Amino acid sequence: MTPLQLAARIVERSDDDTPADMVLRQTLFRRRGLSPADAEWVSRAVFSFFRWFRWLDPARPTEDRVQEAVGLAERFAGDPSSFSDGELIANALPDWVANHVSVTPELVRALQTEPALWLRCRPQFTEETGFRLRDVEPGPLPDSYRYFGSQDLYLDRGFQSGAFEIQDLASQAVGLVCNPRPPEIWWDTCAGEGGKTLHLSSLLNGRSLVWASDRAAWRLDRLRQRAGRARVFNYRAVHWDGGENPPTKTRFDGILVDAPCSGLGTWGRNPHSRWTTTENDVLELSEIQKRILNNVADSLKPGGRLIYSACTFTGAETALVAEWFTNERPEFETEAVMNPFLPDDPPVTEMQLWPQETGGNGMFIAAWRKT
Ligand SMILES: C[S@@+](CC[C@H](N)C(=O)[O-])C[C@H]1O[C@@H](n2cnc3c(N)ncnc32)[C@H](O)[C@@H]1O
Repeated sequence: MTPLQLAARIVERSDDDTPADMVLRQTLFRRRGLSPADAEWVSRAVFSFFRWFRWLDPARPTEDRVQEAVGLAERFAGDPSSFSDGELIANALPDWVANHVSVTPELVRALQTEPALWLRCRPQFTEETGFRLRDVEPGPLPDSYRYFGSQDLYLDRGFQSGAFEIQDLASQAVGLVCNPRPPEIWWDTCAGEGGKTLHLSSLLNGRSLVWASDRAAWRLDRLRQRAGRARVFNYRAVHWDGGENPPTKTRFDGILVDAPCSGLGTWGRNPHSRWTTTENDVLELSEIQKRILNNVADSLKPGGRLIYSACTFTGAETALVAEWFTNERPEFETEAVMNPFLPDDPPVTEMQLWPQETGGNGMFIAAWRKT
């Protein structure tokens, strides 16, 4: 099978319940014999297909459409001005997005650009082992690097030994806003596969504990595997469904709610979800976010800090949820925190990180302190 045929087959197997990135990962795993260059071409082709989806004629065979999408991506990379702002705004995103977000030319141009790959290095570890990252340039955040190479980083010795993690810049910013300090004890309430748990644990230098919970047991299993690989031990993974009963009676110094959301901020990296996420998801998820924030509030010590993040930019899920929480829970005061991308600016109580400004995913972050 040629790389083009393989990409077309992945596209055809992707649907609302089977995300393209998952089909891609599974397919490339099964076909480990594929050359790195072919595997990279297939990934690019699949993501280009969904990024340029609305430009493609649905009546044409999938292979032709994949080939055309690759051509459009190359044209955009070589000459972005050959696409007008109006054309990009009309086609890059589903129409309902305009009900929730101010869709600017800068935003759509950022979402149509192939995203950079960001790493978070663990300085204590690299100092001890003398490990050096290759094919990287320092990024805008402390310990962040942009990767330019083409090897499979999951097989890299540094990744295998925990010298660095693959983590988007916006996610790294969330850990930096939390800024946990030993001996504080933190709760990462929607820990998923543990991207931010590992960062919090690293910022604590292994010297105090992070509780990590999620309602998806399989995600916690992945978290445990990742932590084992990275030799991270100062965490405790527990199941929690987001309901009224917290997983422990512990009162925390800090709580992170990295909430389930529509994920518009990741649509540059994961363009298939542009066409599977619905407007209804936005409204349902905003209610779930409020419930989770309300349910964790009592687990914070007086004086403790609550950080809310969501990798999206719909108002209904971000600023309006933060406003609702501030009104609902008067024992919480909004807290001004530094935007890690703008360390010289005055601190702010909430921030919207945009892909076109940071080079990473989109992310909203708000902070409170319990009085
Ligand atoms: C944005 S993701 C978390 C990403 C993770 N913090 C990371 O950095 O890798 C949101 C997580 O919330 C979890 N989730 C969804 N609904 C939930 C609920 N009602 N209660 C608790 N967790 C929930 C999902 O399983 C998902 O892992």
